[in-house]
Amino acid sequence: MKLVFATNNAHKLREVSQTIGECVELVSLAECGVVEDIPENEPTLEGNALVKARYIYSRTGQNCFADDTGLEVDALGGEPGVRSARYATDGHDDEANKKLLLERLAGKQNRAAQFRTAIALILDGKEYLFEGVVRGSISSEPRGDGGFGYDPLFIPEGYDLSFAEMSAESKNAISHRGRAVAALADFLKQYC
Ligand code: IMP
Repeated sequence: MKLVFATNNAHKLREVSQTIGECVELVSLAECGVVEDIPENEPTLEGNALVKARYIYSRTGQNCFADDTGLEVDALGGEPGVRSARYATDGHDDEANKKLLLERLAGKQNRAAQFRTAIALILDGKEYLFEGVVRGSISSEPRGDGGFGYDPLFIPEGYDLSFAEMSAESKNAISHRGRAVAALADFLKQYC
């Protein structure tokens, strides 16, 4: 089956295609001719994922899914959360985001955090939501140069390595997005 994945992020496309299984052929936004920015101004991850999926479905008429992810830090009351991409500036500046996070956590004992991904699927007009969570902690300084976003600061529970120090396969096996996509893939099995 063909499914439009509402992203043009090559990292994400690679990660998701490794997990989603062979029965699904992923189509990127560029491949289905959607080049404009899709608004994501909802107050929750689920809301943003749904808005994006609805936009793609009405624009292309194709079955599709969209994800939204946030890093939720316990000592910051769940921040940056839904604002993870634009935490420090409006410009999706990973370096500035990581710097601000470390500043906000300076002197705090509790460094527990989680990545959470919401996926909204629209299949023949019906809407479905899936979630994936990975718990961990925020390191005192960036470690590793793999991955993207907050990966160098996130140490998943039970590991000594940051996400940026892991291979893509190891990260994928335990990550928020990996888990959300696994739940999506499990649901899609009935249609394969
Ligand atoms: P998005 O909803 O997947 O675009 O994610 C929003 C923001 O969360 C990104 O701009 C990144 O800063 C951060 N983020 C999402 N997924 C990851 C990840 O797997 N590792 C590190 N940061 C991530």
